[in-house]
Amino acid sequence: MQSLSTPWSRSLGLRVPVVNAPMGGAAGGRLAAAVRAAGGLGMIGMGSAGSVEALRREVAVAGAPDGIGLVEWVRQRETGLLEAAIAARPRLISVSFGTDYSWVPPVRAAGILAVTQVYDAPGAHRAQDAGIDVLVARGSEGGGHGADRLALMPLLDSVLEIAAVPVLAAGGIGSGRTLAAVLAAGAAGAWLGTCLAAAEESLLPESARLAMLAADSSSTAVTTAFDEALDLPWPPIYPARVLRNEFTDPWAQGDAVPDTDQLRAAIAAEDPRLAPVDAGQGVGLVTHIESAAAVVERLCAEAADLLGAQRR
Ligand SMILES: Cc1cc2nc3c(=O)[nH]c(=O)nc-3n(C[C@H](O)[C@H](O)[C@H](O)COP(=O)(O)O)c2cc1C
Repeated sequence: MQSLSTPWSRSLGLRVPVVNAPMGGAAGGRLAAAVRAAGGLGMIGMGSAGSVEALRREVAVAGAPDGIGLVEWVRQRETGLLEAAIAARPRLISVSFGTDYSWVPPVRAAGILAVTQVYDAPGAHRAQDAGIDVLVARGSEGGGHGADRLALMPLLDSVLEIAAVPVLAAGGIGSGRTLAAVLAAGAAGAWLGTCLAAAEESLLPESARLAMLAADSSSTAVTTAFDEALDLPWPPIYPARVLRNEFTDPWAQGDAVPDTDQLRAAIAAEDPRLAPVDAGQGVGLVTHIESAAAVVERLCAEAADLLGAQRR
């Protein structure tokens, strides 16, 4: 196998240029530790349900997490959450889904890299001007919340054109082919969500993982259905890409949807026929449940071979 690295991954001492996305409800301390052990950068994600207590619990599981990712409206709601993330001394902190960059100076002052997801070149410019150290170009193929604006390749192209800082690529990367493509294009690394959400070490319930295995690449939809139904304060410009189900389909058609009590009951029962399962278009490549190390090693070996083959 050829070795796979970029100037950015080497600067952080990573064996491979791969970061697990900070996925609320999936990327806990166990996944972060597994990705780190596999040579990538392991992140803990605090999603809508993020709290200081949950963060401390997952940090304890991870040992020393490489990265912690927060959601902007949750950061604003949960007093002390950013401070708890800084106190855990990760190498990077991401805050996504907002335009208030007041969190950047305290993060950088602590010697931690400030990271955020962007969806177009103007957004990348604004983030850079605010002092962001690493941009994540997140294409609309991606799972979970994010602006539904550009597919990854045109987005990556336009962000790399103006970026003065390293750019990670996110959205639909779930194979050695897609990993090789973004690295060949100039990304500093890949920010992997869906393919690691299904890994053994993920916090996702078994039923959600099985729904991912049954899905193909056209099984997802971008929707605000769950956020509106559950009254979560996600800005509508950041809908979520989820597995289509018996809640999203009628919602999209303007038909009656099950009421909120039924939805909450399905979430409590971990029933993906109604409950949300965040997943990107790469979900079709998730065909069995394996360890995070196996996912990282497979993607990196295939990408290294493809890139090496092109150089010969
Ligand atoms: C299950 C799941 C949960 C997610 N939760 C978060 C989150 O809490 N914070 C965040 O910044 N991004 C979150 N994301 C989005 C990822 O950061 C990233 O943009 C996306 O996973 C990349 O696309 P991919 O899923 O196709 O790899 C989530 C994604 C998934 C699949």
